[in-house]
Amino acid sequence: MRFYVETFGCQMNIADSQEMGRRLAARGLIATQDPQQADVFLLNTCTVRDHAEHRALSLLGRLAEWKKPDRYIIFAGCAAERLGEGIKRRFPQVTVVAGAKSLDRFEEIIDERLPGLTFNDARERADAWGWVDAPAGALPPEGVTAHVTIMRGCNFSCSYCIVPAVRGREAYRPATSILSEVQAKAAEGQSEILLLGQTVNSYRPAGPNPGLEEELIADFPDLLRAVDRVPGVRRIRFMSPHPFYCNDRFVAAMAECRNVAPHLHLPSQSGSDRILSRMRRNYTRAGYLEILAKLRRAMTGISVTTDFIVGFPGETEEDFEATLAFADEAGFDGAYSFKYSPRPGTVSAATPDDVPNEVKEARLARLLAVTERRSLQKVRSLVGTEQEILVEATEGGQIEGRTPESRKMFAACARPVKPGQYVFARVEEADGRTLHGTAIETAALPQG
Ligand code: SAH
Ligand code: SF4
Ligand code: F3S
Repeated sequence: MRFYVETFGCQMNIADSQEMGRRLAARGLIATQDPQQADVFLLNTCTVRDHAEHRALSLLGRLAEWKKPDRYIIFAGCAAERLGEGIKRRFPQVTVVAGAKSLDRFEEIIDERLPGLTFNDARERADAWGWVDAPAGALPPEGVTAHVTIMRGCNFSCSYCIVPAVRGREAYRPATSILSEVQAKAAEGQSEILLLGQTVNSYRPAGPNPGLEEELIADFPDLLRAVDRVPGVRRIRFMSPHPFYCNDRFVAAMAECRNVAPHLHLPSQSGSDRILSRMRRNYTRAGYLEILAKLRRAMTGISVTTDFIVGFPGETEEDFEATLAFADEAGFDGAYSFKYSPRPGTVSAATPDDVPNEVKEARLARLLAVTERRSLQKVRSLVGTEQEILVEATEGGQIEGRTPESRKMFAACARPVKPGQYVFARVEEADGRTLHGTAIETAALPQG
């Protein structure tokens, strides 16, 4: 049997899709990139905003045509967790519901509902976090970046956010398990490691790490240092850190680790203390700016990006202007801004969604104008610099990849290079967020 995967949502969901894919592969299925060739359609969904859930459900609706008696649909992820088995009343084409919280029972769920799976000892070989090896060739290559989940769930309770409800409380993967995955992937040439968790820097496993030579890994800074020492690792990124855990130990570890990329994506959501408190974010505008100041002192030139929500219930013009001023003062290198979307069951959904949609739209555009101006200033300042690109794709003498700050860059390159290699290139032009240039051919092209 063949399976096809479609993923909505964040990087953590992408990693979850890979994990489900490995388990399907361990049961004898083979991945395909063409849904028409597939017997199983794995739809891994997001529900963070109404729009995200809507997109997933409209694809599910279209799958009614794809479904045949011997074809199966696995409805998985965060929207599946929120909607539960009830979804089958609206979409009878769904074979199995596997919500985000049941990932550790995924094999049992599919064994029960999907016929013809090959028995093997996958469950016996799985480690405490259900890591299973997939047979060679059953899955497409993951790409140059290794997605490594280090924790699941979230212990915060931001008033607008559905994630704690659909992902549950924090659970930490043992450091031994994380490091063995990092070692294996780095040894296979994935030199960029993306550590993943909803609030990734709250990682704090309890107890010792059997089999580890290192001292006890008690928190995220310890883990960063341990990953930094793994042979073959050249770039370490992580998503998403929470400002509450950006303490001095965190800043020191980021600065000390040679391979930690000079980029931090640190969601701020608002620049108004009144709104931050209503959002239950556990920091203030001044506290957030102090983290940035410390970080920039420790890592000169570090790139910082963020997330904002506009039109949160009760957000006044004054609150919004505080966010505009904050965005300018913080000098973000980039920002993702979203219109507030009430999510059923969250604290803020109980108060009226009282900022009219036109006002939300207008605020989004005004915030975008500030953040884009900053982001453009930043990319223009990169023209003339030399960047180390991790190559993701190549085509006809052109390479595409990412700079240490995670900016997309295209460069003309006469030498044959492969994805996963690093190339030094000079930036000649910047359009929007993207850089363009030419590889410096005299530079060494170290293998990743
Ligand atoms: N754990 C991360 C955020 C994960 S959700 C953190 O705490 O920073 C990703 C982004 O979606 C958030 O940063 C926020 O900007 C946005 N978001 C979450 N819930 C939302 C909602 N109800 N409406 C609009 N945007 C939302
Ligand atoms: Fe949601 Fe807040 Fe947890 Fe982030 S920290 S996942 S925004 S509850
Ligand atoms: Fe969406 Fe779930 Fe991620 S709600 S943003 S896929 S944690």
